[in-house]
Amino acid sequence: MRLELRHIRHVYSPGTPFQVEALRGVSLSVGPGEVLGIIGGTGSGKSTLVQHMNLLLEPAGGKVLVDAVDATTLKKSELRRRVGLVFQFPEAALFAPTVWEDVAFAPRRLGLEEAEIGDRVRESLALVGADHLKDRSPFALSGGEQRRVAIAGVLAMGPEVLVLDEPTSGLDPASRQDLLRLIRTLRDTGTSVVLVSHDTDEIAEVADRICILEKGEVRAIGSPSEVFYANPDFAPATVSTVAALNETGWDIGHPVRFRETLRALAGLMEG
Ligand SMILES: Nc1ncnc2c1ncn2[C@@H]1O[C@H](COP(=O)(O)OP(=O)(O)O)[C@@H](O)[C@H]1O
Ligand SMILES: [Mg+2]
Repeated sequence: MRLELRHIRHVYSPGTPFQVEALRGVSLSVGPGEVLGIIGGTGSGKSTLVQHMNLLLEPAGGKVLVDAVDATTLKKSELRRRVGLVFQFPEAALFAPTVWEDVAFAPRRLGLEEAEIGDRVRESLALVGADHLKDRSPFALSGGEQRRVAIAGVLAMGPEVLVLDEPTSGLDPASRQDLLRLIRTLRDTGTSVVLVSHDTDEIAEVADRICILEKGEVRAIGSPSEVFYANPDFAPATVSTVAALNETGWDIGHPVRFRETLRALAGLMEG
């Protein structure tokens, strides 16, 4: 799916003393099998923005397009199935007595056959590496396990776009790596992923395109290389290192990912 946001504006508590203009005309798109990374400081509008992707929040202005079709013309349930949104700390919404039942909840509401529901639950749990947890209580799991189960619940809807709001926050390094692997797997099977994070090192490793939000506006959008080298205050450690080297007269190009950067540095040492 191609999901496009055009000139999205959002105002909280309009016309009151508490009015906040959270989004001031944001445009971006994410295509099939693409990972769009969204970064920005606290309060820059990231969470507000992603909640417009399935019209959980309605814009004060602008349009959301799903494969060029105005999203407001689609059924809400259909839109929410196709654009799966995983909130920050999604484990807070786990509720069923077993992991299996929790993940089965959403596909069951779609009115699917029991066999189809079973397939989806199995596949989603396998994707997040949680198949062995299926009979456990979601409340007796570690934080990382709970997070994976919560994500499986959204995957079980079979979304074409998966939107993840700060999915790695509070996770240990191994769980983080698992999650980044999951994102790559989804991308490779044609699912679009929108990944919100304030960890630029992590986003640099998986994103195909980067958007920087600032005060409800797009400050930059483009390839990781373009965006990070032009916005040093958001650059991952690799980019800061290479930029410092390039400034001293070396020129090893504009690598972003860790391996790519290592290769460029190895080339420099051989030369
Ligand atoms: N429910 C809400 N009511 C009023 N203001 C809100 C609400 N949610 C967020 N805001 C405000 O909107 C702005 C953007 O917030 P948010 O989208 O949560 O940013 P981020 O996810 O980048 O931290 C902030 O100024 C925040 O205080
Ligand atoms: Mg947020």
